[in-house]
Amino acid sequence: MCGIVGYIGRSPAAPILLDGLARLEYRGYDSAGIAVYDGKKLVGRKALGKLKVLAEVTHDGANMPGTVGIGHTRWATHGEPSEINAHPHFNEEETIAVVHNGIIENYLPLREKLSGRGYSFVSETDTEVIAHMLDYYYKGDPLAAITKVIHRVEGSYALGIIFAEHPDKVYAVRKDSPLIVGRSKDGNLIASDVPAVLKYTRDVYFIQNNEIAELTEDSIAFFSVDGDPIQKESKHIDWDENAAEKGGYEYFMLKEMYEQPKTVRDTLNPRINENDEIHIEELGMTDEEIAQISRIRIVACGSAYHTGVTAKYVFEGMARIPVDVDLASEFRYRDPILDPKELVIVISQSGETADSLEALRLAKAGGNTTLAIVNVVGSSIAREADKVMYTWAGPEIAVATTKAYSAQLIAEYLLAIKFACVRKKITREEMRAYVRDLKKLPEQIELLLGNEKRIQRFANRYVTAKDVFFVGRGIDYAISMEGSLKLKEISYIHSEAYAAGELKHGTISLIEEGTLVAAVVTQKALYPKTISNIKELTTRGAFVMAVTNEDNPELEKVADYVIYIPETNQYFTNSLAIIPLQMFGYYVSVGKGLDVDKPRNLAKSVTVE
Ligand code: AGP
Repeated sequence: MCGIVGYIGRSPAAPILLDGLARLEYRGYDSAGIAVYDGKKLVGRKALGKLKVLAEVTHDGANMPGTVGIGHTRWATHGEPSEINAHPHFNEEETIAVVHNGIIENYLPLREKLSGRGYSFVSETDTEVIAHMLDYYYKGDPLAAITKVIHRVEGSYALGIIFAEHPDKVYAVRKDSPLIVGRSKDGNLIASDVPAVLKYTRDVYFIQNNEIAELTEDSIAFFSVDGDPIQKESKHIDWDENAAEKGGYEYFMLKEMYEQPKTVRDTLNPRINENDEIHIEELGMTDEEIAQISRIRIVACGSAYHTGVTAKYVFEGMARIPVDVDLASEFRYRDPILDPKELVIVISQSGETADSLEALRLAKAGGNTTLAIVNVVGSSIAREADKVMYTWAGPEIAVATTKAYSAQLIAEYLLAIKFACVRKKITREEMRAYVRDLKKLPEQIELLLGNEKRIQRFANRYVTAKDVFFVGRGIDYAISMEGSLKLKEISYIHSEAYAAGELKHGTISLIEEGTLVAAVVTQKALYPKTISNIKELTTRGAFVMAVTNEDNPELEKVADYVIYIPETNQYFTNSLAIIPLQMFGYYVSVGKGLDVDKPRNLAKSVTVE
């Protein structure tokens, strides 16, 4: 996520902004910038790369005098990492400066409308639209201009705004992306997160959705999106710096698990319209190109590969396109027989995984059209693929992926539905029905996250387990793979995922009295088969934890412990069933006292073979 800091007070603003941004570095970023009012005008400085570059060009803020300013560290979502795309963004006269964290879902139509009104854009970002809209609506009253703008933008945003004509004020606006206000003895601050202000104050206001804050050096006022005054209480923060970076969560992994509803929304919403139809602008594929795809090859590593296994069932089930899924490290060395009519999809959170990057290059050399599903804008895989579809999950800090994994699934569902519709395998009404199911996922994920304490108690029983197996059929097998990886990579407990139908072909010999087996049972057509597998397991002494749909209470008769997931379309159950399995792996690791975020021997991005 991007980092925002703002200050207004009696001290020089620039050093405070740089210091605050430095305390938000853990959020991940690729560029930074600050804007300060120098007594006459707004002055901005931006720099690609780490914050120290910006500190150098501003001499640690010394060459940017002024006591009012805003600053930003950018995690690119729209537009490559570059100085021109870095924030703050300005209106053409540079009398208004804006920093933003989030995604303006309707920025393209707004940009077209503004261009039609004579505005010209210098960046590729969605944020710049805000600066020009403020200019368009500003008639001397900043608050009036802000309320008009936020009634017209859709999406998630935390905004910091300063006006050259009102240098005694800093404004902050929040919808879905966190934003706080800090009150200190020599001025007031805004920030994306508590760590940025702890050096100056522990008394903060948490801005809620659709609220506006107006700061002067001695006062803080809050307003609704309609400009009505709001009374708010400050909170005293007693977190230490380390806890504050995690937003109070014990580990980044847990924090990122709880961000999954938002990353699902952020990846989904910009690609669906008010009629529940899908539009994937960035795909750049004509309907003819989509109709001519003879086969899809999905290539990835680790969890990204697991989403590909799920996507195989979704593409083949919905769009009737044959799909092969390969581990990138296998694909690149098995001299694959490639056909240019095939679409190769490479999935990667980091966009830098060596095997996935080389597999992409191999496919391109073979004449294939390549599409990358990537989380990091401007990463190698994103740059080298013919097409890119971003997962807007924000920076993922824990080595074990959760929110990026969930966002990858959404991207794959959208592609499968789009392809199925274009190839006339589903009707537009069926597409809309699928989209309506997808829109329910964030709340359903939130519901499942509410099981945390129950899952923690269950996980504590297995901190000394030696082997844990995960089984499932179809999409449930793909879910089992990811559940197994989550457990083993952060708890170091041996775990395997098996196609449930394979148990009798050898693996069931591993089952002993009390062996824990997680059975994923969400594919209704396969209920009877998987239930009989569960019976095979329990009769041999296994303790079976089942994850199943709410409408399947039968399972309580055969499984020892049942976790229910809310009703959704059978193609999308992975997005829900994975939540308790992530939570289970997390709490087994916590129960063992391990460093959940940095498991031994692992790196967040495997950039070497
Ligand atoms: C999953 O929790 C691991 N972090 C790992 O398997 C990861 O998914 C894999 O290394 C692929 O990384 P990528 O998505 O960045 O390419």
